Amino acid sequence: VVSKIEITDSKYKKLIDSLPKEERFPVGLRKYQGFWQFQNGIPGVLAMKEDFNPRPNDVIVSSFPKSGTTWLKALTFTIMHRDKYTFSNHPLLKLSPHDCVPFIELHYALRDKQYLETLPSPRVLGTHVPYSLLSDNTKISTCPIIHICRDPKDVIVSFWHMFTKFDGLMESLSFEQMYELFCEGRVHIGPVWDHVLEYYTKSLISPKKILILKYEEMLKDPTNGVMRIANFIGCPFSEEEMKSCLVEKIAEFCSFNKLRNFDIKQNEGNLKSYYYRKGIVGDWQNYMTPEMANKLDEVTKEKLCDFTF
Ligand code: A3P
Repeated sequence: VVSKIEITDSKYKKLIDSLPKEERFPVGLRKYQGFWQFQNGIPGVLAMKEDFNPRPNDVIVSSFPKSGTTWLKALTFTIMHRDKYTFSNHPLLKLSPHDCVPFIELHYALRDKQYLETLPSPRVLGTHVPYSLLSDNTKISTCPIIHICRDPKDVIVSFWHMFTKFDGLMESLSFEQMYELFCEGRVHIGPVWDHVLEYYTKSLISPKKILILKYEEMLKDPTNGVMRIANFIGCPFSEEEMKSCLVEKIAEFCSFNKLRNFDIKQNEGNLKSYYYRKGIVGDWQNYMTPEMANKLDEVTKEKLCDFTF
């Protein structure tokens, strides 16, 4: 969606024209304050940075693309609104998690920030924006941020599959070409390591503000993930809820096979296959040579030091 937005504001156009450009990525990328992104999305990110003021009871979910955003949105929304919806009348049966939990920067990019204001509290909102580019109001507010991250090797594979499906725009990009660009950080929202590091570092300083979840850990023990999210956002499960196995039921309701098979009525073609592909750990082994994997692991180790996936 963002790649197709026109930049009409001359103030932004001038700035964007002055930024470094990546020509090899088929959708125009520019580097703004350390991160490459779709140039057409930059006005939305800048407007959000200047203007977005969260409500104190908002919850923000953040991620690098293809790290489990859709899953985290579904889980957080379901946990937060568990008193409001039963599993049989749940919005996720009909709507995508991206409709229930909108991306803040997307609505700024579409010049439709008012939409966010129409949502009732408590809102769950999503973002791919790096921590350093969030608004000051977001950083100082008490609203919690949950960040999900994933082994970059699996992120690349998922990323390549999604982006090569974009209207055939990137069909010409081989996996090897995507790998090179990814390693150089020259992909939408890249470099992935800097993105994770910003949220991780901040979570060490402010553990009540930012919770880091790892896709791999969530997959291994989803019920623990559900409990951690609920505790972090200040709505822990009661004894009664635990006895009725609500934690397990939410984990199951938001599991890959369930979400994928709900009747999702998208307004933009069939996005289902973009957001639900395999949902496993280690698919990189089917795409990378051991040398490619080692090189990437080395970069991850060098950039993230003690942080492992
Ligand atoms: P794969 O392409 O490796 O299958 P994002 O939501 O950030 O775009 O991430 C998409 C990735 O998360 C895809 O990975 C997708 O299959 C996976 N995913 C989506 N829903 C999931 C779920 N409920 N449980 C586990 N993985 C899920």
